Amino acid sequence: MDAQNKIQNKYKDRIRELKAGLGSKLIILTHHYQNKEIVELGDYVGDSFGLARRAAADTSAEYIVFCGVHFMAESAAILARPGQSVQIPDVEAGCWMADMADPFIVERTWQELSDFFGPESMLPISYMNSEAEIKAFCGRNQGLICTSSNAAKAFSRALEQRERIFFLPDQYLGLNTADKLGIPREEIVVWDPGLPLGGNSSENLAKSRIVLWKGHCLVHTRFSQEQIEEVRKSRPGAKIVVHPECTPEVVALADAAGSTDFMIKYVENSSPGEEVVIGTEFNLIHRLQTQYRDRTILPLSRSICPNMAKIDLQKLCHTLESPGRTNVVTVDKDLKEQAKLALERMLALSS
Ligand code: 13P
Ligand code: SF4
Repeated sequence: MDAQNKIQNKYKDRIRELKAGLGSKLIILTHHYQNKEIVELGDYVGDSFGLARRAAADTSAEYIVFCGVHFMAESAAILARPGQSVQIPDVEAGCWMADMADPFIVERTWQELSDFFGPESMLPISYMNSEAEIKAFCGRNQGLICTSSNAAKAFSRALEQRERIFFLPDQYLGLNTADKLGIPREEIVVWDPGLPLGGNSSENLAKSRIVLWKGHCLVHTRFSQEQIEEVRKSRPGAKIVVHPECTPEVVALADAAGSTDFMIKYVENSSPGEEVVIGTEFNLIHRLQTQYRDRTILPLSRSICPNMAKIDLQKLCHTLESPGRTNVVTVDKDLKEQAKLALERMLALSS
C-alpha cells in the first residue's frame, strides 16, 4: 500500500469512529457528484432535490454535514429546524452557475421587466443552483425554486398562475424545460443582463412567455453535438443519456435527459450487456461503472466539476472533529424566511 493510500485509510477510519461516536445526532448528506469514498461514508446520496427533501424531513440529527456545493448546503440550512446546524467540509466549494446571477442585478432586472410587462404578469422561478438571496427574491415575489427533476412541473404550475416566467440562472435548463412543455421558441427570450432590454427587441420581449437568465454550467456545456454523432457512429447500439444543463442541441440528439437521479435509474433499467453513454459530471459515471460491471457505462467525455471535487476525506474528517462548529453554513434570518417560502413551494409540488 502506498503512503497516500495509508493516509486516506487513516482518514476513513477516523471518520467512521467519529460517526459512531455521534450516532443519530449526525447525518452526512452526499450529492451524486461526490467521489466514491465520500459517498460510501455518507448516510444518504441523492440529487439536489432528494437532498433538500431529506434535509427538510430530518427531525433527529443535530448536525447535518453536507458533502456537495455551497448552494446545496445553504438550502439545507434554510430548511433546517432550530437547533440543527449545517456544515460543509469546504466553504469554497461554490457553483459557477450560481455565481452568474448576482442578486443586485437580478433585482434590477426584475424591476425593469415589471415596468415593461406591468405588475403581476410574471412569476420568478430559480433553479436550486442559486444563492440564498436569489431564493429569497423568489420567495417574496410569490415565486418558487425548482431542480432539474421538477422543472417542468414548476413551469406548468407557474403558467397556470401568471402569463410569464422569469427563470434563472440556467438558460439551458430553462430552454430544455420549455421545449419539453412544447412552448414555441418565439415565446422564449434569453436575458443578457449586460445589454439594454437584455439584448432583445421590445417586439420580441412583448411576445415572450419565458424570460431566461443568461447563465450556464461550464461542466455540462462542454458536451457537444459532435461528441454524440461520434458515439452514434462508433457505438451504434449505445443509448445516450444527458443532464438537462446540456445545450438543447445536445439534449435533442440524446436518447433521454434528466436529473442525476434520473440518469442513475436509466442505467438501473438498462439490461446486462447494454452500452450506456452519459453526459454529466464524471464522478457519477465512475461510480456507475464500478456498480454495473455487467454493462458498458461510458462518459460522453470526461467532465469534472472542480467545486464538487473540493470536498475530500481530510476536510470531511476535520469537519466531523468539531460538530456544529467549523464551516457552519448560516443564512440571515429575514432571507431565510423568504427563501424558505420558495423552497417549500417546490417541496409542495411533488406531494
Ligand atoms: P441535480 O439536481 O440533477 O442533482 O444536479 C445538480 C447539479 O448541480 C447539476 O450540475
Ligand atoms: Fe454548478 Fe455545474 Fe458544478 Fe453543478 S456541475 S455544481 S451546475 S458548476
